[in-house]
Amino acid sequence: MIRYLKKYWLFFILAPLFMLGEVSMDLLQPRLMAVIVDEGVLGLSNGGTGDMGLVIHTGIRMVGLVLFGCFCGIMSGVFANLCSQNYGNDIRKDAFQKIMSLSFEQTDRFSTGSLITRVTNDITQVQNLLTQCIRGFVRTFLLFAGGIVCMLTLDMSFGAVVACVLPLIVICVIFFIAKSNPVFTVLQDKLDRLNNVMQENVSGIRVVKAYVKEAYEKDRFGVANDELTGTQLDVLLLLSYMTPIMNILLNISVVAVIKVGAVQVEAGGVTPGDVMAAITYISQILNAVMRMTMIFQTVSRGAASGRRIKEVLVCEPSIKDGSFEEETGVKGKVEFRDVSFAYPGMGTENVIEHFSLTIQPGETLGILGATGSGKSTLVSLIPRFYDVTGGQVLVDDVDVREYKLSVLRAKVSVALQKSEIFSTSIRENIAWGDPDADDAHILRAAGAAQALEFIEDKKDGLATQVAQGGHSLSGGQKQRVAISRAILKNAEILIFDDTTSALDLKTEAKLYGALREAYAGTTRIIIAQRIASVKNADRIAVIENGRLVACADHGQLMESCAVYRDIYDSQLKK
Ligand SMILES: Nc1ncnc2c1ncn2[C@@H]1O[C@H](COP(=O)(O)OP(=O)(O)OP(=O)(O)O)[C@@H](O)[C@H]1O
Ligand SMILES: [Mg+2]
Repeated sequence: MIRYLKKYWLFFILAPLFMLGEVSMDLLQPRLMAVIVDEGVLGLSNGGTGDMGLVIHTGIRMVGLVLFGCFCGIMSGVFANLCSQNYGNDIRKDAFQKIMSLSFEQTDRFSTGSLITRVTNDITQVQNLLTQCIRGFVRTFLLFAGGIVCMLTLDMSFGAVVACVLPLIVICVIFFIAKSNPVFTVLQDKLDRLNNVMQENVSGIRVVKAYVKEAYEKDRFGVANDELTGTQLDVLLLLSYMTPIMNILLNISVVAVIKVGAVQVEAGGVTPGDVMAAITYISQILNAVMRMTMIFQTVSRGAASGRRIKEVLVCEPSIKDGSFEEETGVKGKVEFRDVSFAYPGMGTENVIEHFSLTIQPGETLGILGATGSGKSTLVSLIPRFYDVTGGQVLVDDVDVREYKLSVLRAKVSVALQKSEIFSTSIRENIAWGDPDADDAHILRAAGAAQALEFIEDKKDGLATQVAQGGHSLSGGQKQRVAISRAILKNAEILIFDDTTSALDLKTEAKLYGALREAYAGTTRIIIAQRIASVKNADRIAVIENGRLVACADHGQLMESCAVYRDIYDSQLKK
């Protein structure tokens, strides 16, 4: 993910450079303070007579340095944030694009909640890591190293204090890092789980209420939430043991510096001002080490998040794009050639078994079969929502795997079994099928889909805003908006996956009549539960357990297909 930094290399360099300026000012202050004490107040080199002029003069220099340090600090913050925010923004865009290119099976494997966490919280953690690296880490490291150098230049004997205390502190820090590091991956996993429960509940709130499952879901959320809190507490408790221990060590060090300083002052090795400066330096050094613990916390958490984002970024879409994009001379032909299919991760259990069928251009094919017989699965192989595990699917005599995906999917228009409606206007929902369409085209498609009547009844017509998930529309209205969208796309092959189930028979008949008239050249594949929906199709394919049982027109099937007759009897012969 380092390559994302390339564009922002200047910010990436400027932030630590300005930080260097800020830290240098911090390190200079104790020196000047020592001058004020030793010369301005005590007048050590002037026979004990202080020098007010020197105090004022040095004081002004100190104020100047503080202001300069402040300016450097601000600039460092500005560049660090510019760098990390832009960096995160780019990764977020790429991660989103990658998620869009993944196949259904891959997004299912990640889970929706986890993908949301990765694109939001995980990227924020990585941004924090970056800011800490180019700002926090640089600052602490410089204060630490600079503090030691400055202290030793005052007097080497102060080094003894550092040498005694530092190993203790380093052991504490390593202990903390070793304990807390593994917790961060767990923490993000718990966050995934919480987001999954949250997402399922908000999108399924109607079902939750209908089944009076609020208490059950509240418990489920409670468990996920408690687990997250527990993990977070583990880290924070570790930290709260850590801080007082570090403080004790810090205070002992200060006392030790005073003791060493007092001995040295008596021996004439150092001045009282030097001792004061040394106290400030030892505090700076130890504070830097303490802050390092916090930084390691952010870095560990950011690294865990970075790994999770990388998993998304490097995930190769399992549906690989082909290169074929020429015209074939055939338009709207679909052929299943001995197709078998099993869902990924479901073992060898085939949902479609040795299925062979050719649908001719312009033909209307009905597909009929019991629930779970594999109808939706079969048609999802045409636009390559999944790839076959055996055999071939051909569109216009070319294997679907050879097509450039965008070319293949432009040929196929699917109205899915579950109507996906977006929270925007009805116009935009329909225009999704063809973003360039004008109102006349949209109204024509809506007309064929028998949606015009209800759209015109709405006060705002096409501009009517739809609530999230299409909840402000009835089931049948949602289906008709989705059908309008599919029709508007004007593709060679139009697939309706049980999309007229919520329409009454009269409206459904009008819809198919309109399609036959206005889109006669389009190949239509209509999946239905009701025989009435497909009775007038050129042919009807009857599917049982993923196998083709028969394929002929209604009359022939009534004569020759027992399964079809059974369905007919159960539905129409009362
Ligand atoms: N994403 C999936 N992962 C694993 N198995 C699946 C998946 N989708 C469907 N199945 C299984 O595949 C079989 C066929 O499902 P499919 O949705 O194709 O049936 P269908 O004929 O369209 O049924 P319905 O009439 O109820 O819509 C079912 O047993 C189902 O459980
Ligand atoms: Mg189905």
